[in-house]
Amino acid sequence: MSVRTATTSATVAALFCGCALLPAGQAGAAETRQAGPPAAPVVIAHRGASAYAPENTLAAVDAAAGLGIAWVENDVQRTKDGVLVVLHDTTLARTTDAERVFPGRAPWAVKDFTAREIAGLDAGSWFAPEYTGTRVPTFKQYLDRVERNHQKLLLEIKSPEIYPGIEKEILRTLRQEGWLDRRHVEHRLVVQSFGAESVKTVHAQRPDVVTGFLGTPRVADLPSYAAFTDQINPSYPTIDAGYVAEVRKLKGAHGKPLRVNTWTVNDAAKAAEVAGFGVDGIISNNPDVVRDATR
Ligand code: G3P
Ligand code: CA
Repeated sequence: MSVRTATTSATVAALFCGCALLPAGQAGAAETRQAGPPAAPVVIAHRGASAYAPENTLAAVDAAAGLGIAWVENDVQRTKDGVLVVLHDTTLARTTDAERVFPGRAPWAVKDFTAREIAGLDAGSWFAPEYTGTRVPTFKQYLDRVERNHQKLLLEIKSPEIYPGIEKEILRTLRQEGWLDRRHVEHRLVVQSFGAESVKTVHAQRPDVVTGFLGTPRVADLPSYAAFTDQINPSYPTIDAGYVAEVRKLKGAHGKPLRVNTWTVNDAAKAAEVAGFGVDGIISNNPDVVRDATR
């Protein structure tokens, strides 16, 4: 059976039973490595298993579950009428049919469309014909699916400068949906952003939530980041073993060594290389490829 065929079968099996085929031993990104032989990095499905299903959709969450991947990464933004939705780009043009449906609404910014308008768009046919009719999920729908699949969430606050106050709204939704109880906060949730102020805001409003900063701060600046974040999550071309060691020397906002989740690594050789740097996690469109290369 080919890898692609096996992947598809696993995904279909998970969809049919409504459950995730998750490995019992998968370490959580909120957990700390133990002393002894280095653990294999946690593998995180980037925008879901986005090599196999349209990014940031429920299908991509299910595809990750079907591969046995516990952690999914997503991107949260806000509509014109204040609904939180899951979408990477700050415009709808690339991953939906908004240009065709709303020809006079360039540049199709997410913030300029209502939730009802976005809910009617096709977010799947750009990826493959069999995904035609796939929708942009609301954040609530997304949380429900991750919960149903018994998965864990690396939540990115996307472009927070466009959405003042979004941190409070994300935290409110997480609380309403049961994601801020001890079980979720300790083991199943990390909130990250490229915006340091946004990460600081989350830490100030809910100090119990595990946080991550997306980027590669200078080593000299790391202590100031460690005051409000638990993870430094850099792009893989910006790091080496020395940088990872410098980050992991420091204790983060919850008194544990700062963790490093690097992105976006999609091939086996690169995955093995960054695992050798000592990273704690690898964020990948092909999480199965990375898992197989690092175990
Ligand atoms: O989680 C890391 C990665 O998602 C950051 O980049 O552009 O894919 O959101 P981007
Ligand atoms: Ca992201």
